[in-house]
Amino acid sequence: MKCRKCSETAIINMRQHKLALCQEHFLEWMPEQTQRFIEKYKMFDHADKILVAVSGGKDSLSLWDILRRLGYQADGLYIGLGIEGGIGYSDESRRLSEHFAAEHGLKLNVVEVESTYGATIPELAVISNRGHGKPCSVCGLSKRYIMNRAAHDGDYTVLATGHNLDDEAAVLMQNTLNWAGSYLVRQAPVLEASRPGLARKVKPLCRFYEREMAAYAIVRGIEYIYDECPHAVGSTTIYYKEVLNQMEEKRPGAKLQFYLSFLQAKEQGLFALKAADAELHPCEKCGQPTSAPGECSFCRMWDKVREVKGARLPAEAGLVQIES
Ligand code: AMP
Ligand code: FES
Ligand code: ZN
Ligand code: ZN
Repeated sequence: MKCRKCSETAIINMRQHKLALCQEHFLEWMPEQTQRFIEKYKMFDHADKILVAVSGGKDSLSLWDILRRLGYQADGLYIGLGIEGGIGYSDESRRLSEHFAAEHGLKLNVVEVESTYGATIPELAVISNRGHGKPCSVCGLSKRYIMNRAAHDGDYTVLATGHNLDDEAAVLMQNTLNWAGSYLVRQAPVLEASRPGLARKVKPLCRFYEREMAAYAIVRGIEYIYDECPHAVGSTTIYYKEVLNQMEEKRPGAKLQFYLSFLQAKEQGLFALKAADAELHPCEKCGQPTSAPGECSFCRMWDKVREVKGARLPAEAGLVQIES
């Protein structure tokens, strides 16, 4: 197969766009498209101070690479979750994130959950008794909290994550099958900072397929962690990704259309529900916005840990440790 823009051999065929590209043109096309999405969804501009959440995976490292190539000011944030899983998962993710930052002279902020708060994510899952022994729910809660706080404390104007179209479509499918109205209202490429203390969140890769992100990382020679989080095995998200890929196989573009039609329906007012964040107030302990009465759920979770382990409280913990 030949490249649409020149006659070189194509390295990727994107059936949903009826577009095949050679290496050189694919490496041009990815940042061009990203820039289009950034403008279309009014994500940020060159005056913004961006914090990119990097996990050491292909999506977030490629996002950092693309933003850098587009000339944006983007620092990284790596959150050390303390997940071992027989493969040294978190250590390896941190090493690869630091390696990328060093290679490109970028600033990486690192927050290790264990040294900052007093327990690893898997320990926290057991002690707090949330998520039925699986760490994913406390992990999600902790990542959202720490990302938000690091963006706020570091005076970043926007927080960017590496969610790709496969991630977004899988979550959309799950939320649609559950008719989870409040989640559907909030699922978008941009989540405005609706309250002081909440960071503005953006997903610049939300229209790229996972295979495009993998191709980009490989062609750019980005070293990333191939393994999924060991706790993600058998998750519903992975199941929905497989289902969507089966649909895509028969009908190229099905995944993209599912997501884009949802965004369009929303724009046309299909979900007139108001986002349920009207009653947020500052947490009594740490001051971050919360809908829970009194303390936020993050602080309450750590109170429980402190009872068991005598760990420090989040409000006292020294946060973001800056490394360059
Ligand atoms: P996931 O929830 O693992 O699919 O990751 C979605 C996005 O969250 C990634 O693309 C990153 O931007 C961010 N992220 C996930 N894990 C971490 C981490 N340990 N540290 C910083 N950002 C992360
Ligand atoms: Fe959080 Fe797997 S449990 S990344
Ligand atoms: Zn070409
Ligand atoms: Zn709190």
